[in-house]
Amino acid sequence: MVAEAKNNKKKKKNKKKKPDRQAFLANKHDLYQRAVQEPSADNEFMSKLFAQKFQRDAIVMREDFCGTGLLSATWVEEDPQRKAIGYDLDVETVEWGIENNLAKLDDEQRSRVDLRIADVLDAPKDPVDIICAMNFSWWIFKKRQELLEYFRSVRSSLHPEGLFILDIYGGKEAYEEMEEEHEKDGFDYIWDQDAVCGVSDEILCHISFHFPDGSKMKRAFTYDWRRYGMRESQEILLDAGFSKVEVYWEGVDDEGDGDGEFTLTTRAESTDAWIAYLVAIP
Ligand SMILES: C[S@@+](CC[C@H](N)C(=O)[O-])C[C@H]1O[C@@H](n2cnc3c(N)ncnc32)[C@H](O)[C@@H]1O
Repeated sequence: MVAEAKNNKKKKKNKKKKPDRQAFLANKHDLYQRAVQEPSADNEFMSKLFAQKFQRDAIVMREDFCGTGLLSATWVEEDPQRKAIGYDLDVETVEWGIENNLAKLDDEQRSRVDLRIADVLDAPKDPVDIICAMNFSWWIFKKRQELLEYFRSVRSSLHPEGLFILDIYGGKEAYEEMEEEHEKDGFDYIWDQDAVCGVSDEILCHISFHFPDGSKMKRAFTYDWRRYGMRESQEILLDAGFSKVEVYWEGVDDEGDGDGEFTLTTRAESTDAWIAYLVAIP
């Protein structure tokens, strides 16, 4: 009787485990990269703009908040002249990036990329061509003064002919608690804007992944941010000493979704959800 009860308990336990299978087998960094990142598109935007502005190729790119360093790895892989330095605080994330993204490069390519576990505020002031802060990572700075100091440090680390490129999102939905689901190859990616404060502009967001077998990787990533507006972001960049800030606004396709094409703009309709690049020039 006791043995039977134990067996049943075991069976129940196993039953419970089964739905966890796909979520259990997946790696959150791999899913994040496949769901969120398009390194070639970012690199193409940055390098074309740089060449157009300065009539030379950008060589050294610093990727702030680099996470797994996928952008940096792709940067050096795409062109044998290029070098990349990435900064991120999270040891586990950077180590995963070294073991997975950098491991896919050959020795020569790997010698041109350096992922450093460090605070972006502690990055040395060696002049680089491009500094980028993608996927809204710079919203980590909740106080205007902190953001200003970060922008100042970026400004002083740029070559006089250099660009600081960061992305920003906004529109009605940026001000709402909402959840959106995107179908990806083999899983669904869930963006959960869980808490939005009308007073402090703070937003708490999570990324979860759902799988066809019903298993879920809940809150694989959490971001505790302050959302900065488009106008104030430009003003803080100017206050930090940049001489000019340009806005490159994403176009929309026939269904009203972002089309991945970013155009220099001074006026734009604030749609429900928009994305743009800010480009700051020293
Ligand atoms: C939204 S992820 C961005 C990952 C990647 N850059 C991308 O484009 O998808 C934000 C990253 O910023 C890192 N981070 C947060 N504060 C930081 C700081 N002060 N210095 C360096 N990295 C930081 C986190 O560890 C996290 O990996």
